[in-house]
Amino acid sequence: MKVVGGSASVPLAKAVARELSATFVNISFEKHPGGFPDGERYVRLLGSLSGEDVVLVQTTYPDSNVVEFFLLADAIRDCGANRLTVVVPYFGYGRQDKRFLDGEAVSAKAIGKHIALDADELLTMTIHNPDILKGFPIPARDVDGIPALGRYLKAVEVDMLLAPDDNAIRFAMTAAAICGKPYDNLEKNRIDSYTVRITPKKLDVRGKSVAIVDDVISTGGTIATAAKELRSQGASRVIAACVHGLFVGKAEANIKVCDEVVATDTIQSTHTKVSVAPEFAAAIRAL
Ligand code: R5P
Repeated sequence: MKVVGGSASVPLAKAVARELSATFVNISFEKHPGGFPDGERYVRLLGSLSGEDVVLVQTTYPDSNVVEFFLLADAIRDCGANRLTVVVPYFGYGRQDKRFLDGEAVSAKAIGKHIALDADELLTMTIHNPDILKGFPIPARDVDGIPALGRYLKAVEVDMLLAPDDNAIRFAMTAAAICGKPYDNLEKNRIDSYTVRITPKKLDVRGKSVAIVDDVISTGGTIATAAKELRSQGASRVIAACVHGLFVGKAEANIKVCDEVVATDTIQSTHTKVSVAPEFAAAIRAL
């Protein structure tokens, strides 16, 4: 087995290769130093993949990484790979999982359809709506990224886990079971892309170290609102933990209210402290 990493996911791809004792194949991402002046992507495989079972690891966010994914998958097929397993650590466009208004694209389905052109099977992680994977043209499976966060939060000894909204209850529950600690949740209403409101609720957090657990931190609005609530109710330490750290817009300023922010390596950022390579390696071994 050989492992290829797109430019969005090189450290994770190398870690997956190490876990699987597989060969990591280097990629050249620039034809000329500095890349193409117009910003178009370029890939060149620097190893033979003929007859190999290949794992391609590439997050499909932002858009340039979607294009790079398609170039890599196409090149891997042209090289005569036997089987292509694709690992999409963060499935960009996953949140547009249905047609909310007439005429809209079901973006998650559209991306899945095109991934399936060259791939034999797909693994992704903590996708917004795992049910969308059932309609993909190839076998597709969601891998749970929360246990990796749970291990980290257990090591830093949190007293309690908090879901910032209903959707995150399952995440807090999983992390709480790993930490052996209780969990609670807030009720959130999204006003717009940047503003959320939570329903006031008494939490048993005074003097406690609390981790807010969510799948995604995007603008940081959700985390900041929950963290302020924890602070106002006397929490002594607030950690924000997410699988996918997008950190867009004013996210960095918003999350400053937290003592610590931890994200996994599905998206590389300065907050990446946890690797989900063991999760993906186990899922690949089980295929
Ligand atoms: C929503 O259901 C998700 O689980 C996250 O809570 C949301 O995507 C976070 O977005 P933001 O950081 O912009 O509040």
